[in-house]
Amino acid sequence: EKGGYDYFMLKEIAEQPKAVADTLLGRIDGSGSLRLDEVRIPAGALREIDKVVIVACGTAFHAGMIAKYAIEHWTRLPCEVELASEFRYRDPILDAQTLVIAISQSGETMDTLMALRHAREQGSRVLAICNTNGSTIPRESDAVLYTHAGPEVAVASTKAFLTQLVACYLVALYLGQVRGTKWGDEIRAVIRDLSSIAGAVDRVLGTMEPVRELARTLASKKTVLFLGRHVGYPVALEGALKLKELAYMHAEGFAAGELKHGPIALIEEDLPVVVVVPSPRGRSVLHDKIVSNIQEIRARGARTIVIAEEGDEEVVPYADHLIRIPATPTLLQPLVATVPLQVFACELATARGNEVDQPRNLAKSVTVE
Ligand code: F6R
Repeated sequence: EKGGYDYFMLKEIAEQPKAVADTLLGRIDGSGSLRLDEVRIPAGALREIDKVVIVACGTAFHAGMIAKYAIEHWTRLPCEVELASEFRYRDPILDAQTLVIAISQSGETMDTLMALRHAREQGSRVLAICNTNGSTIPRESDAVLYTHAGPEVAVASTKAFLTQLVACYLVALYLGQVRGTKWGDEIRAVIRDLSSIAGAVDRVLGTMEPVRELARTLASKKTVLFLGRHVGYPVALEGALKLKELAYMHAEGFAAGELKHGPIALIEEDLPVVVVVPSPRGRSVLHDKIVSNIQEIRARGARTIVIAEEGDEEVVPYADHLIRIPATPTLLQPLVATVPLQVFACELATARGNEVDQPRNLAKSVTVE
């Protein structure tokens, strides 16, 4: 049932192009507009929404962090994202004009369930993004957009994360479409880009051997740091979470701009630091900033592992190891940038002799608060 792979995790990583394509399937019509019939919240109500709040845990929370960038950009609605376990304890401001999005692979995570119950008690509408048909979270929500990743067996989430991202982009673009923002042309262009993104994920998977080799050389390290900016920041957090879960290593993700406010003190000779570099096109300020961050940490001895778009030559002199990903629109980059980090963590876990599919102390669905 592992389809020839040693671990479910490897199988699930390999299934990502299909999972992404399946999650898009039937949701884009012939004219290039979104059709999300499952989102049964009437268009009129969606036009009245004045705030979006996303609740989730772990990897799903990282998907939510990325969704915030997309939702705010394409809809101009304020969007908050909060750990489900913190949410209801701070008396959050919620009303009928708040759209709450609960993201959960299993649909059974108790923290997320309690957060959505709290939101519904305050009169908010709840849209679930979920991978498990008929599970509790979608049953208790006003509407559900299912991710079509197929069953995810490995405890560490991979293909579910990518499909959560796709679902979040769809919701963001759909809200933009329904509410009619000035980004109409961009929204149509991104819908086109999404249609070809599964191919880009597939291309990344074809180039992972050097990443595996690199991971094996780092098996005896104690710490790995991850840096990113903008949507690369949640990708960095996700890379660090995968490494903690699977390799039991100390791993931390930082917003690259925060380096000088403290974390740079951690940099020492030969410390591996993975940097997720945004596209050099368009948002070039962001790119310039991260290039100088890479220079700063390298000057202090870090061993830089740079994930950068094909054709980005500026990073080459500062990369001890360079991992190439296909060029994508900035907001979609997490769909390709996360894949090498999954492979990296999986290979490190294997090299350290850990149980890949069933890491110690973890359960696939966390049904206690
Ligand atoms: C990470 C991981 C966990 C889950 C989290 C939420 O690899 O698997 O962090 O993402 O427990 O689970 P769901 O999405 O089922 O609510």
